[in-house]
Amino acid sequence: MVPDSDIGFVLDGEIVSVAATEPSATVLDLLRYRLRRTGTKEGCAEGDCGACTVVLGELDGDSVRWRAVNACILFVPMLHGKALVTVESLSRDGTLNPVQRALVEGHGSQCGFCTPGFVMSLYARSIGAEGTRATPVKDVIAGNLCRCTGYGPILAAGEANPAHAADDGAVVALLRSIEPRRSGSGWFAPRDSDELAALLLEHPEARIVAGATDVGLWVTKQLRDLGTMIFVGDVADLRRIEEDDDGLTIGAAVRYSEARDALARLHPDLGELVRRIGGLQVRNAGTIGGNIANGSPIGDMPPALIALGAELTLRRGSGRRTMPLEQFFRSYGVQDRQPGEFVERVRIPRPAPDTLIRIVKLSKRFDSDISALCGAFALRLEGGRIASARVAFGGMAGIPARAPGCEAALTGATWSEETAEAVAQALAHDYAPLNDLRGSAEYRIAAAGNLLRRLWLESEESVSVLDG
Ligand code: FES
Ligand code: FES
Repeated sequence: MVPDSDIGFVLDGEIVSVAATEPSATVLDLLRYRLRRTGTKEGCAEGDCGACTVVLGELDGDSVRWRAVNACILFVPMLHGKALVTVESLSRDGTLNPVQRALVEGHGSQCGFCTPGFVMSLYARSIGAEGTRATPVKDVIAGNLCRCTGYGPILAAGEANPAHAADDGAVVALLRSIEPRRSGSGWFAPRDSDELAALLLEHPEARIVAGATDVGLWVTKQLRDLGTMIFVGDVADLRRIEEDDDGLTIGAAVRYSEARDALARLHPDLGELVRRIGGLQVRNAGTIGGNIANGSPIGDMPPALIALGAELTLRRGSGRRTMPLEQFFRSYGVQDRQPGEFVERVRIPRPAPDTLIRIVKLSKRFDSDISALCGAFALRLEGGRIASARVAFGGMAGIPARAPGCEAALTGATWSEETAEAVAQALAHDYAPLNDLRGSAEYRIAAAGNLLRRLWLESEESVSVLDG
């Protein structure tokens, strides 16, 4: 029985209950300082290195949905009603888990900081956790950094442990016995969007937290006090994905890993873009709704969704309004969201079959890095001419934004090398890019133009197919 004021979760076959002190206390600190489970390490405290990887389980009908997440940017109230597996859990009976054994025998166990995180990511894969099925080992551990470059034996240990079905019957029973908690000191956890809407009218200043992959850093890096928090990870109707002939509707609390397959079906570039967002632990926590709502100029999804003509629905109380996604971003750090209003869903229309689509993210590192630039193009072609064009970039302005001059120059033109070249040069009039550590303004303008040239080069073959 979990006392009313506590956070309850399943750990090693029993229900653990902990006093909920600060709502922004992290699970990593809980493990290391309160539960004295020091196997989980702190490396970066920002979701980059994976040293703090744990596996989290939640009820899904009669089974448990497991996922690897970063404990350093997970807040303690988000644990309530979940099952937690830490590196200590794997060898409680004194026997190494097969993943640990493979790492030892293959000399994949290296420094004590990174190894527990690798173990947990590979363990998650071995039980078929979210985002790991049919996924190469190198993608599963892309969110785990090893500074000594000993990846070979770690990859081999992962290959040696294919996924097997886990018997989660006991965990299911324990999870069912934990009563949901809707609030605590300084936080709320609504179960449906009506409850969320009412809460936000009462507490319009509250911080909405979905996966905490961005907000978590405000705590660990900026030591900010987040005030009242509303966790939306368990808002059932915001967790829905609806796919129909006309497109895809994604609820604001859908995690990247959950949305990836449906997005890839809409267009393969969308699936590939999701693969390059953070590491798997970040995709297993972060949401598309959160990525939109926080309005980062280099958020990965908005440029792609804008180019595809996505619409955003916001809700305040019982009122809703829907707008083209690009209109949501007003200026740097300013979004068109009123007090008490929340992002409810994004709708992405299915592209017409004769649309040439390309989405390209440029970053210094291929995996688990933030964009310097993200360009997205959707050109509808009719007989070799561009009937309509939507072009959007992230990293080129203070907000993700369309390129009106570029779109106007493309529309009605013949899709050719000359057009691509002329329009690439017009991009400089559409944007005044950021100048920062990820790239100079000059680099961004040159790279954006090169993406258009590349679009032409890569499309030559597909254009002839499209035009039949
Ligand atoms: Fe680096 Fe958590 S400590 S991801
Ligand atoms: Fe820690 Fe390589 S395992 S640096």
